[in-house]
Order: sequence, then structure tokens, then C-alpha cells
Amino acid sequence: MSGNFVVAGGSKGIGLEVVNQLIPSADRIDVFSRSQGGLTGHEKVFRHDMDFTENDLDFSGIPDIVNGVVYCPGTINLRSFRALKPHDFVSDFEVNLVGAVKFLQGCLTALKKGAGDQPASVVLYSTVAVSQGLSMHASVAAAKGAVEGLTRSLAAEWAPKIRVNCIAPALTDTPLASRFFSSPENRQAMALKYPLGRTGVPADLASTARFLLSSESSWMTGQVLAVDGGMSTLRS
Ligand SMILES: NC(=O)c1ccc[n+]([C@@H]2O[C@H](COP(=O)([O-])OP(=O)(O)OC[C@H]3O[C@@H](n4cnc5c(N)ncnc54)[C@H](OP(=O)(O)O)[C@@H]3O)[C@@H](O)[C@H]2O)c1
Repeated sequence: MSGNFVVAGGSKGIGLEVVNQLIPSADRIDVFSRSQGGLTGHEKVFRHDMDFTENDLDFSGIPDIVNGVVYCPGTINLRSFRALKPHDFVSDFEVNLVGAVKFLQGCLTALKKGAGDQPASVVLYSTVAVSQGLSMHASVAAAKGAVEGLTRSLAAEWAPKIRVNCIAPALTDTPLASRFFSSPENRQAMALKYPLGRTGVPADLASTARFLLSSESSWMTGQVLAVDGGMSTLRS
């Protein structure tokens, strides 16, 4: 799929895999992150330093025309409700929701120009914990619930020029979730919770983003796609 793409959080985890999967066909990929992470340097990839928790962010480095964007920064702040302080909710909301808002506002003019024969495309990330009600997930589930609301609202507001969809992963082996994969025993215990017998890998979630960015999904908008090894729908 040719075109210009912008990946917020494209330096690690799922976002890095999105970048790697886009490289063969994209014309240009701009990445916003706080560090270089696992990016190895490629002529099509342009990284810009950015912390989405800061204000007055500079998006002037992106091309005038952008065909698709993905926002990947997220949190896994798992604690009992009793242990969570109000600032934990604010902090999770800042990274997951407000950061996405800043990103989309920064890219909107270029995205509108990217809508031609095909609509431009936005991909956001939620979590299985929004639809499933998992204990210890109050803060992140509340923040990601807002992301799902944003997805549907913007999909309505921006149709037919820009499509907006969201992916809801379950546990995936990335730097964000590394503490759940700290030993072979932990890894095995986590895998057993899933009907498909394993936890996610970045490619599972990146290939869904690539699909949502492509014309293969051109009649889809306002959707939240569960990519979770069956966790949200099956009991085995
Ligand atoms: N992994 C899971 O088990 C899981 C489960 C459910 C949902 N998700 C969701 O899936 C998405 C991707 O998760 P992931 O596991 O790939 O996360 P990750 O491993 O932490 O990677 C996140 C990416 O975002 C960047 N980032 C984080 N905070 C940032 C900030 N304040 N400003 C700028 N860049 C920032 C990171 O780069 P720098 O550190 O270089 O800035 C990195 O490139 C997230 O929205 C997450 O909530 C993940």
C-alpha cells in the first residue's frame, strides 16, 4: 500500500512492527516517539522527538499529504481501585486519550489532503479490558473506553473523507507488557488464559493496523476490532 503514513509510538512494540510492515510499500513513514527504540534507520522512515504528555507539540515535520496515521502510546497501570490515586487516572487519560487528540489535531490538515479516491485512515489502540471488565484495570479501562468513544465520534464526524477504527488487543509481548513475560513460567501461565493457546505478538496487532490503513478495509469505519486470541468472546 503506497502513501505517506505517520506512526505515533513507532519506536517499540506494536508501533515498531507497524512501521516495519509498512516499509515495503509505503512512500514515507514519519514516527513520533521519545526515543529511537528499535528503529534501525531506513531511508523511508523519519523519526521526530515527541512526548505526547507535553503541550504545544510541533507537527510541522510531517508531509503536507498523509494517507494514514496510527497512535500507539499506551499504559498498563494495573492496581486495585483502592491503590489507584486520582492522578493515576489523569496520567492514563493523558497518554491514551489526550495524546491521541493532540496527535490527530496535529495531523488533521494533512489527513484531509490525503483523502482522494480512497478515504484517509486513522487507527487507534484500545484494550480487551474495556469490553471485559477485568479487575485491577479500572484506570486503563476508563482511559481506553474514552479512546473507543473518540473512535466512533470522529468516524461519524469525518466520514466520508477519513475512516477511524480502533484495535482492542489482549496481552501482547512488547516492552509495555514485559513484566508479564519475565520468566518461562509466567509466559506459559499467561498463554493458558487464551482460547488460542498463546498471548499476542506485535505482528498480530500490526497486521490488523496495516489492514485498517489499506484500501482492503475501505468500507469499515467506527469499528473496534478485538484481536485477543479469543479472550473477549470465547470460554474454553
Ligand atoms: N502490550 C499489550 O499487552 C497491550 C494490551 C492491550 C492494549 N495495548 C495497547 O496497544 C498499544 C501499543 O502498545 P505496546 O505494547 O506496543 O506499547 P509499548 O511497547 O510501550 O510501545 C509504545 C510506543 O509508544 C511510545 N510512547 C509511549 N509513551 C509515549 C509518549 N508519552 N510520547 C511519545 N511516545 C510515547 C514508545 O516509544 P518511546 O518510549 O520511545 O517514547 C513506543 O514506541 C497501546 O495503546 C497499548 O495500550 C497493549
